[in-house]
Amino acid sequence: MDRPYIPDTCDGCPSKIVCRCLNVTEAEVVQHITRLELRTIRELRYHTGAGEGCTCCHAQLEEYLEKLGCVHEMVS
Ligand code: FES
Repeated sequence: MDRPYIPDTCDGCPSKIVCRCLNVTEAEVVQHITRLELRTIRELRYHTGAGEGCTCCHAQLEEYLEKLGCVHEMVS
């Protein structure tokens, strides 16, 4: 499936590309992390494809995971 061209100057909008190799947007990453409660880059790669190329986006993907990932605290 072809994705529409999205310009690089799209900072702050949900269509901002996070992974340039796989053309994955910030909105896709955020949606998958929150809906599927993803915790690792491996899971994110599996569900979105983000990070499957050159890997230079991994640091940014980690930031999304840290900020948005669900934290399940142990309840004793
Ligand atoms: S920019 Fe994400 S794998 Fe290259």
